[in-house]
Amino acid sequence: MKFFVDTADVAAIKDLNDLGMVDGVTTNPSLILKSGRDILEVTREICDIVGGPVSAEVVATEAKDMIAEGLKLAKIASNIAIKVPLTWDGLTACKAFASEGHKVNVTLCFSAAQAILAAKAGASFISPFIGRLDDINLDGLDLIHDIRTIYDNYDFKTEILAASIRNVNHITECAKIGADVITAPPAVIKAMASHVLTDKGLDQFLKDWAQTGQKIV
Ligand code: E4P
Repeated sequence: MKFFVDTADVAAIKDLNDLGMVDGVTTNPSLILKSGRDILEVTREICDIVGGPVSAEVVATEAKDMIAEGLKLAKIASNIAIKVPLTWDGLTACKAFASEGHKVNVTLCFSAAQAILAAKAGASFISPFIGRLDDINLDGLDLIHDIRTIYDNYDFKTEILAASIRNVNHITECAKIGADVITAPPAVIKAMASHVLTDKGLDQFLKDWAQTGQKIV
Protein backbone atom coordinates (compact mmCIF):
# COMPACT_ATOMS: atom_id res chain seq x y z
CA MET A 1 0.00 0.00 0.00
CA LYS A 2 1.32 3.42 -0.94
CA PHE A 3 1.10 6.38 1.43
CA PHE A 4 0.35 9.82 0.02
CA VAL A 5 0.21 12.82 2.34
CA ASP A 6 -2.84 15.03 1.97
CA THR A 7 -1.36 18.46 2.65
CA ALA A 8 0.48 21.44 1.19
CA ASP A 9 2.44 21.91 4.43
CA VAL A 10 6.04 21.58 3.24
CA ALA A 11 7.53 21.11 6.71
CA ALA A 12 5.10 18.27 7.51
CA ILE A 13 5.83 16.59 4.18
CA LYS A 14 9.59 16.82 4.75
CA ASP A 15 9.23 15.40 8.24
CA LEU A 16 7.36 12.28 7.06
CA ASN A 17 9.46 11.95 3.91
CA ASP A 18 12.65 11.76 6.00
CA LEU A 19 11.13 8.66 7.64
CA GLY A 20 10.36 7.06 4.28
CA MET A 21 6.61 7.37 4.85
CA VAL A 22 5.79 9.39 1.73
CA ASP A 23 5.15 7.80 -1.66
CA GLY A 24 3.35 10.87 -2.98
CA VAL A 25 1.37 13.98 -2.07
CA THR A 26 -2.13 15.23 -2.78
CA THR A 27 -3.19 18.86 -2.63
CA ASN A 28 -6.46 20.61 -3.39
CA PRO A 29 -7.61 24.26 -3.49
CA SER A 30 -8.63 24.16 0.19
CA LEU A 31 -5.20 22.84 1.22
CA ILE A 32 -3.48 25.53 -0.87
CA LEU A 33 -5.60 28.14 0.92
CA LYS A 34 -4.65 26.63 4.28
CA SER A 35 -0.94 26.77 3.37
CA GLY A 36 -1.16 30.48 2.56
CA ARG A 37 1.29 29.85 -0.31
CA ASP A 38 1.29 30.43 -4.06
CA ILE A 39 0.18 27.20 -5.79
CA LEU A 40 3.02 27.09 -8.33
CA GLU A 41 5.68 27.92 -5.76
CA VAL A 42 4.55 25.51 -3.04
CA THR A 43 3.91 22.68 -5.51
CA ARG A 44 7.42 23.09 -6.95
CA GLU A 45 8.86 22.93 -3.43
CA ILE A 46 6.91 19.74 -2.71
CA CYS A 47 8.09 18.17 -5.99
CA ASP A 48 11.69 18.93 -5.00
CA ILE A 49 11.21 16.89 -1.80
CA VAL A 50 9.04 13.99 -2.99
CA GLY A 51 9.92 11.73 -5.91
CA GLY A 52 6.46 10.12 -6.24
CA PRO A 53 3.33 11.64 -7.77
CA VAL A 54 2.30 15.08 -6.50
CA SER A 55 -1.32 15.92 -7.30
CA ALA A 56 -2.06 19.53 -8.24
CA GLU A 57 -5.69 20.40 -8.89
CA VAL A 58 -7.20 22.48 -11.67
CA VAL A 59 -9.91 24.97 -10.72
CA ALA A 60 -11.52 25.67 -14.12
CA THR A 61 -14.87 23.99 -14.76
CA GLU A 62 -14.78 23.74 -18.56
CA ALA A 63 -12.62 21.12 -20.24
CA LYS A 64 -10.63 23.49 -22.46
CA ASP A 65 -9.75 25.73 -19.49
CA MET A 66 -8.94 22.68 -17.33
CA ILE A 67 -6.56 21.52 -20.06
CA ALA A 68 -4.80 24.90 -20.13
CA GLU A 69 -4.44 24.90 -16.34
CA GLY A 70 -3.38 21.27 -16.18
CA LEU A 71 -0.67 21.73 -18.80
CA LYS A 72 0.69 24.68 -16.82
CA LEU A 73 0.68 22.63 -13.59
CA ALA A 74 2.35 19.70 -15.38
CA LYS A 75 5.26 21.97 -16.33
CA ILE A 76 6.16 22.38 -12.62
CA ALA A 77 7.86 18.97 -12.49
CA SER A 78 7.80 15.57 -14.15
CA ASN A 79 6.09 13.94 -11.13
CA ILE A 80 2.95 16.11 -11.25
CA ALA A 81 -0.36 14.26 -11.40
CA ILE A 82 -2.98 16.63 -12.76
CA LYS A 83 -6.05 16.51 -10.54
CA VAL A 84 -9.45 17.05 -12.16
CA PRO A 85 -12.94 16.81 -10.67
CA LEU A 86 -15.26 13.97 -11.60
CA THR A 87 -17.48 15.94 -13.95
CA TRP A 88 -18.02 15.32 -17.64
CA ASP A 89 -15.61 18.18 -18.40
CA GLY A 90 -13.14 16.69 -15.93
CA LEU A 91 -13.33 13.33 -17.70
CA THR A 92 -12.83 15.05 -21.06
CA ALA A 93 -9.71 16.77 -19.72
CA CYS A 94 -8.58 13.48 -18.15
CA LYS A 95 -8.74 11.72 -21.52
CA ALA A 96 -6.78 14.53 -23.18
CA PHE A 97 -4.07 14.52 -20.49
CA ALA A 98 -3.81 10.73 -20.39
CA SER A 99 -3.48 10.56 -24.18
CA GLU A 100 -0.46 12.87 -23.91
CA GLY A 101 1.13 10.67 -21.24
CA HIS A 102 0.31 12.79 -18.19
CA LYS A 103 -0.69 11.19 -14.90
CA VAL A 104 -4.23 12.18 -13.91
CA ASN A 105 -5.93 11.96 -10.53
CA VAL A 106 -9.72 12.14 -10.86
CA THR A 107 -11.05 13.54 -7.61
CA LEU A 108 -14.37 14.09 -5.83
CA CYS A 109 -15.54 10.54 -6.59
CA PHE A 110 -18.58 9.46 -4.59
CA SER A 111 -19.92 6.47 -6.55
CA ALA A 112 -18.74 3.29 -8.24
CA ALA A 113 -20.37 4.46 -11.47
CA GLN A 114 -18.15 7.56 -11.44
CA ALA A 115 -15.10 5.39 -10.79
CA ILE A 116 -15.87 3.27 -13.87
CA LEU A 117 -15.95 6.40 -16.04
CA ALA A 118 -12.62 7.62 -14.65
CA ALA A 119 -10.98 4.29 -15.48
CA LYS A 120 -12.43 4.39 -19.01
CA ALA A 121 -11.06 7.94 -19.42
CA GLY A 122 -7.55 6.73 -18.62
CA ALA A 123 -7.12 8.08 -15.08
CA SER A 124 -3.97 6.97 -13.28
CA PHE A 125 -5.75 7.48 -9.94
CA ILE A 126 -9.37 7.60 -8.80
CA SER A 127 -9.97 9.43 -5.52
CA PRO A 128 -13.08 8.18 -3.70
CA PHE A 129 -13.80 10.36 -0.63
CA ILE A 130 -14.48 8.18 2.41
CA GLY A 131 -14.94 10.78 5.15
CA ARG A 132 -17.34 12.96 3.23
CA LEU A 133 -19.60 9.94 2.57
CA ASP A 134 -19.45 9.00 6.26
CA ASP A 135 -20.42 12.63 7.02
CA ILE A 136 -23.78 12.09 5.30
CA ASN A 137 -24.35 8.73 7.00
CA LEU A 138 -23.24 6.59 4.07
CA ASP A 139 -20.37 4.11 4.36
CA GLY A 140 -17.30 5.45 2.57
CA LEU A 141 -15.45 2.16 2.99
CA ASP A 142 -18.24 0.34 1.10
CA LEU A 143 -17.39 2.50 -1.89
CA ILE A 144 -13.70 1.50 -1.72
CA HIS A 145 -14.78 -2.12 -1.59
CA ASP A 146 -17.13 -1.76 -4.59
CA ILE A 147 -14.53 -0.01 -6.73
CA ARG A 148 -11.92 -2.66 -5.84
CA THR A 149 -14.31 -5.41 -6.97
CA ILE A 150 -15.21 -3.67 -10.22
CA TYR A 151 -11.64 -2.72 -11.14
CA ASP A 152 -10.50 -6.29 -10.45
CA ASN A 153 -13.40 -7.75 -12.47
CA TYR A 154 -12.20 -5.89 -15.56
CA ASP A 155 -8.51 -5.53 -14.78
CA PHE A 156 -8.73 -1.73 -14.90
CA LYS A 157 -5.27 -0.28 -14.29
CA THR A 158 -6.45 2.91 -12.54
CA GLU A 159 -5.17 2.95 -8.96
CA ILE A 160 -7.64 3.40 -6.12
CA LEU A 161 -6.42 6.38 -4.09
CA ALA A 162 -8.61 6.36 -0.98
CA ALA A 163 -9.13 9.99 0.06
CA SER A 164 -10.91 12.06 2.67
CA ILE A 165 -9.42 9.84 5.35
CA ARG A 166 -10.23 11.02 8.84
CA ASN A 167 -8.93 8.31 11.16
CA VAL A 168 -6.57 5.35 11.56
CA ASN A 169 -9.41 2.86 11.13
CA HIS A 170 -10.05 4.19 7.62
CA ILE A 171 -6.43 3.38 6.70
CA THR A 172 -6.47 -0.11 8.21
CA GLU A 173 -9.75 -0.97 6.51
CA CYS A 174 -8.48 0.37 3.16
CA ALA A 175 -5.44 -1.88 3.52
CA LYS A 176 -7.70 -4.88 4.17
CA ILE A 177 -9.88 -4.05 1.15
CA GLY A 178 -6.83 -3.58 -1.06
CA ALA A 179 -6.89 0.13 -1.93
CA ASP A 180 -3.69 0.82 -3.89
CA VAL A 181 -2.99 4.12 -2.16
CA ILE A 182 -4.28 6.10 0.81
CA THR A 183 -3.92 9.83 1.15
CA ALA A 184 -4.21 11.13 4.68
CA PRO A 185 -3.36 14.24 6.68
CA PRO A 186 0.02 14.03 8.48
CA ALA A 187 -1.72 13.87 11.89
CA VAL A 188 -3.67 10.73 10.91
CA ILE A 189 -0.53 9.01 9.60
CA LYS A 190 1.29 9.86 12.84
CA ALA A 191 -1.67 8.61 14.90
CA MET A 192 -1.10 5.14 13.41
CA ALA A 193 1.82 4.76 15.83
CA SER A 194 -0.31 5.33 18.93
CA HIS A 195 -1.84 2.64 21.11
CA VAL A 196 -2.96 2.99 24.71
CA LEU A 197 -1.35 -0.35 25.62
CA THR A 198 1.96 0.75 24.09
CA ASP A 199 1.91 3.84 26.34
CA LYS A 200 0.88 1.80 29.38
CA GLY A 201 3.49 -0.91 28.73
CA LEU A 202 6.28 1.59 28.19
CA ASP A 203 5.35 3.41 31.38
CA GLN A 204 5.62 0.18 33.38
CA PHE A 205 8.92 -0.82 31.76
CA LEU A 206 10.43 2.57 32.58
CA LYS A 207 9.27 2.39 36.22
CA ASP A 208 10.72 -1.11 36.61
CA TRP A 209 13.93 -0.09 34.89
CA ALA A 210 14.38 2.85 37.26
CA GLN A 211 14.23 0.39 40.17
CA THR A 212 17.14 -1.65 38.76
CA GLY A 213 19.41 1.36 39.16
CA GLN A 214 21.17 0.35 35.91
CA LYS A 215 22.20 2.38 32.84
CA ILE A 216 22.73 1.09 29.30
CA VAL A 217 24.96 3.96 28.18
C1 E4P B 1 -8.13 14.22 -1.72
O1 E4P B 1 -7.39 14.27 -2.67
C2 E4P B 1 -8.59 15.37 -0.97
O2 E4P B 1 -7.55 16.33 -1.03
C3 E4P B 1 -8.85 15.11 0.49
O3 E4P B 1 -8.56 13.78 0.83
C4 E4P B 1 -10.17 15.58 0.96
O4 E4P B 1 -10.29 15.33 2.33
P1 E4P B 1 -11.39 16.04 3.26
O5 E4P B 1 -12.73 15.48 2.90
O6 E4P B 1 -10.99 15.70 4.64
O7 E4P B 1 -11.30 17.51 2.95
